[in-house]
Amino acid sequence: MRISVNQIREKKTKSEPLVMLTCYDYSTARILDDAGIELLLVGDSLGTVMLGYESTIPVTMDDIVHHTKAVVRGSKKAMVVADMPFLSYQVNREEALYNAGRFIQEGGAGAVKMEGGENIASIIKSITSAGIPVMAHLGLTPQYIHALGGYRIQGKSIDSAVRLYQDALAVEQAGAFALVLETVPTLVAAHISKVIKIPTIGIGAGAGCDGQVQVVHDILGSFLDFKPKHARCYANLAKTITEAVTTYRDNVISHDFPGDEESFTIDREVYEEFKRRIS
Ligand code: KIV
Repeated sequence: MRISVNQIREKKTKSEPLVMLTCYDYSTARILDDAGIELLLVGDSLGTVMLGYESTIPVTMDDIVHHTKAVVRGSKKAMVVADMPFLSYQVNREEALYNAGRFIQEGGAGAVKMEGGENIASIIKSITSAGIPVMAHLGLTPQYIHALGGYRIQGKSIDSAVRLYQDALAVEQAGAFALVLETVPTLVAAHISKVIKIPTIGIGAGAGCDGQVQVVHDILGSFLDFKPKHARCYANLAKTITEAVTTYRDNVISHDFPGDEESFTIDREVYEEFKRRIS
């Protein structure tokens, strides 16, 4: 059984931190699920870390559906959350509902995530009314990058902190079951976390949130373009992979690979007969 929305809400009441990581493929999903990561986010960050785009804007519905299916196949216990990409929920309510439905019905996700506050509250309401759990996302919302004017900390001025607070109340009121707070001052995120009933999941929002999320490539050290300040590296996969493939390359060149243990045998008589027939 996968973790449910109710169990996630309950964790806040028991002050048990929620642990979420991004995940985009079957093999990684198996590892993260076995390790007890309870929320797997098929984030639109797949655009940058998996597909090599400069931002998340080019990511499409089909991209997220495709990767969501893989993550669902690779996991048994985690809730898989599919990220609604740029303009997949802002055009109109019908399109938003149709697209959220695709993630649940086609992708097999347990919930969808949407960036925005009061401006999308009515859309969150429609989607949750249709029985689709919504995780909201406020603060640094990369899909609004052109409007925000860059990847900057949000909620630092009085006005922007008040706006963030009001947006948090609006998405809670609209029926979101959890809220991601990205790159927000610790005090503001902790305050919002205390006031609202739904769990907050921080990324660069300090220890006062009810849970934490990170981009898996950032904590494993496998994305070389950029390391965000909020990420801690728990491994250096880029170094490990480089060492492994360099050794593989050297072994191939020196004829050390493959060896007998990586090769297959044939009966001597069969081989002799084979040679006789083709001669
Ligand atoms: O797409 C993503 O990876 C995200 C996280 C940063 C929360 O939205």
